[in-house]
Amino acid sequence: MVTVKVPAKINLALGVGPRRDDGFHPLATVYHAVDLYDEVRAEPASDSTISVRMHHEGVENAIVPAGEDNLAVRAAHAIRDFIGVDDGVELAIRKTIPISGGMAGGSADAAAALVACCDLWNCAIGREELERLAAELGSDVPFLLHGGTAMGDGRGEQISPVLARGSYLWVLALQNHGLSTADVFTEFDRRTAGQQLGAPLVPDDLLSALRSGNAEQLGAALTNDLQVSSLALDPELQGVFDVGRECQALGSVLCGSGPTVAFLASDEQHATDLAVALAASNVCADVVTASGPVTGARHFS
Ligand code: C5P
Repeated sequence: MVTVKVPAKINLALGVGPRRDDGFHPLATVYHAVDLYDEVRAEPASDSTISVRMHHEGVENAIVPAGEDNLAVRAAHAIRDFIGVDDGVELAIRKTIPISGGMAGGSADAAAALVACCDLWNCAIGREELERLAAELGSDVPFLLHGGTAMGDGRGEQISPVLARGSYLWVLALQNHGLSTADVFTEFDRRTAGQQLGAPLVPDDLLSALRSGNAEQLGAALTNDLQVSSLALDPELQGVFDVGRECQALGSVLCGSGPTVAFLASDEQHATDLAVALAASNVCADVVTASGPVTGARHFS
């Protein structure tokens, strides 16, 4: 039996370009892994079946596809096809990462399932090949193998290092409803129709804030091109941003396509104050504090 734990991600910057012919959008993003974890356990099955069971803590009425569509199941199939065996596996996922929250929960489980199945089946796969399989599963999956703070180019799947100092304290405002990533990108297309969108970029001031490890500069430089579109689909999110501003968060940014919002706090006390204010304001379903960066999918005992 193998257990792998995998973090959630937030995007410190998310630049989006015009829709490509393959339907995806070019991205220039800075991913940042935070210590909110899912755990994926892999056990040999008695036959060749690949199955998954989900246990989700926190959010009520969560619906998680637990069949063949599930990204973790697809990850297990990818490793099995790569090795060329027909062993079965029982995957059990303990979820803490919000579902459809913009924090890549499904992609995280896929990254963890890749690592767990490789280990269970003693798969001698190279790093590059593993990253290729990860990219086929989803745009965010390669980053969840790495973790830390890293650039994502292409449709988000091409990962490269950024020089990043320091550790950061985040307050995350969670909702008990999700936002569909595909719907948010469609709204982005609608809003930008007729505009000449250039190639997406990560702002220099964000990279320089990360190089120097300056939390105030980082807070001021957080940016997400999907934010306006997500707010258009979910206008009540504005109330979440308003609370963060009133509590002098160093910065705020939507996580991916939302609806989770991340606030940067200056210290533990500030994080507690922010969390209390958010919880008291009824603008979100739950509040958690998290710190980053942390490593990607790793074995856990
Ligand atoms: O890659 P992933 O499966 O996470 O993407 C989910 C959906 O989000 C895609 O089907 C697409 O509609 C949209 N997307 C996009 N451009 C990206 C990443 C995702 O349009 N770079």
